[in-house]
Order: sequence, then structure tokens, then C-alpha cells
Amino acid sequence: MIEKSLRGSTALVTGAGKRLGRAVALALADEGVNIVIHYRSSEDGAKGLGEELKKKGIRYWFIKADFEKKEEYESLIARAVRDSGNLNILINSASIFFKNTLKDVDFDSFTRHMQVNAWVPFALSREFSRHVACGKIVNILDARLVGYDWAHVAYILSKHALSVLTRMTALEFAPSVTVNGVSPGLILPPPGQDESYLDKLAENLPLKRHGGPEDIAAAVVYLLKNDFLTGTVINVDGGRHLMGYKNGPHTD
Ligand SMILES: NC(=O)c1ccc[n+]([C@@H]2O[C@H](COP(=O)([O-])OP(=O)(O)OC[C@H]3O[C@@H](n4cnc5c(N)ncnc54)[C@H](OP(=O)(O)O)[C@@H]3O)[C@@H](O)[C@H]2O)c1
Repeated sequence: MIEKSLRGSTALVTGAGKRLGRAVALALADEGVNIVIHYRSSEDGAKGLGEELKKKGIRYWFIKADFEKKEEYESLIARAVRDSGNLNILINSASIFFKNTLKDVDFDSFTRHMQVNAWVPFALSREFSRHVACGKIVNILDARLVGYDWAHVAYILSKHALSVLTRMTALEFAPSVTVNGVSPGLILPPPGQDESYLDKLAENLPLKRHGGPEDIAAAVVYLLKNDFLTGTVINVDGGRHLMGYKNGPHTD
């Protein structure tokens, strides 16, 4: 593999104010990538990330946008291009994740998940492909795409849509733009849960432990550095994708 330096590139990272989005932004910064920090409500987190980037000597810009508001997400790529002057990487990480089952999922939750987790990443990707001469997109998916996450039905359906869109857009945007994905497994506990929640679920995994945000960030960096990959999804999940639904840790 020929590893390409990312130094001097500029990445828009959605949902960069906290958790995985933040970790990906920091890992890219360590590769010399300037960052457009997208956030919706995590203003303090976004500013904190900006401080970290400043210490690393990395250029950064902030963009606030709610993906449930068309007027905010439709202008996002144009704003990122205008502010940074040189956008060539898009990381679609922002998402919503609410509990529902097939018994109680309603149209509102279905369409909200589809909008934030699939439609907007696609709309941003299409706009990105129109603006850049040459670029790279990484979509953050979910290892639960293998099997069946019965506790987050609207969420997992939206991730299935984004997974299919990853392959469709990889073909559509080639050869100027590559599109790949990373599917995280057990990485961070959902809000209100702590480490013990992950440790218990991790007992069922082939590798018997959960991962960390740095594992996801490293996979994103790998995909961005390899110019010959498109339409590829890496499962970063301790082997979870190898397990059947019935045997898997499917209660999270
Ligand atoms: N954590 C895990 O272990 C895990 C496992 C599998 C897959 N994933 C995937 O990895 C990605 C990141 O996960 P995470 O746990 O870090 O996510 P998270 O904590 O739920 O954060 C999601 C981000 O999405 C943003 N967001 C939510 N609703 C939005 C909206 N309407 N408009 C714009 N932005 C919005 C939030 O921005 P604000 O905070 O600024 O509002 C937040 O920064 C997601 O795609 C998730 O599905 C994570």
C-alpha cells in the first residue's frame, strides 16, 4: 500500500463537539489535517476541541448546523468551502440514536433517524462531490448492521440506508471522490451508562473487550491514506460482525 500524507488537507467532521467525532478530528489533526468543526448543541465541546487544535498548530473553523433544519444543513458544505478555502475530506459522524422496537416505532422517529443519519450525510456528500475536484468521504456506520438491533429499529434502518449509500456514492462519485465507511462496535457507552455497561456486553465478543475512540479514529485515518480504496467498510468491533444475531450482545 502506498500511504499518502494527509498534511495540509482540510476535513469537515460532523458531530465533532464530543465523543467519536471529536476523537476522529484529533487523530486527523495529528496527521496535519485542518478541521472544520461541525456541531449542533455542543458549543463548549466544539470550543474545547478548537483549543486542542490550536495547541497542535492546526487551523480550524466552526460551523453550527442542525440536521433537522434544511436551511442549516443545505448550506453547510458551501460554508465549509468558503471558510476553509480548501475542503477535501468529509467525515459523516453525527447521528441520533433513540430506543424503539418494531412494536412501538412511529413515523416521526423513523423519518427523524432517516433524515439525520442517512439523508443529510448523503446530501452533504453529494454537495461535497460537486464542490471538490478531488476528495475523500468516510461514513461512520455501525457493526450492528450485521444481525439485527431490535432495540433501535429506526436507528439501524437509517444506518442500513447509509451503508447502501456508501456503495452507491462510491460508484457515482468515482474517480474524483472516494467513499468508504467504518462500522464501530462497542466503543463508548450510551448517555447514562458507564464503562461497566460496555464491559458486560464485551464478555460476549470474540476479543472479550470493548474498543476505544482511538480505534475508530485509526481506521478513518487508514481509509483516508489509501488512495486505492473506495466502497470499503471496515468493522472495528472486536469481531462482533462474525457473530449471529441470536448469539450476539444485542441488548445495547
Ligand atoms: N459510540 C459508539 O460506541 C458507537 C457504536 C456504533 C456506531 N457509532 C456511530 O459513531 C458515530 C458517533 O457516535 P457517538 O457515540 O460519538 O455519537 P453521539 O455521542 O450520539 O454524538 C452524535 C453527534 O451527532 C450530533 N447530532 C445529533 N443530532 C444532530 C442534529 N440534529 N444535527 C446535527 N448534529 C447532530 C451531535 O452534535 P451536538 O452534540 O453538537 O448536538 C453529536 O456530536 C455515530 O454515527 C454513531 O452511530 C457509535
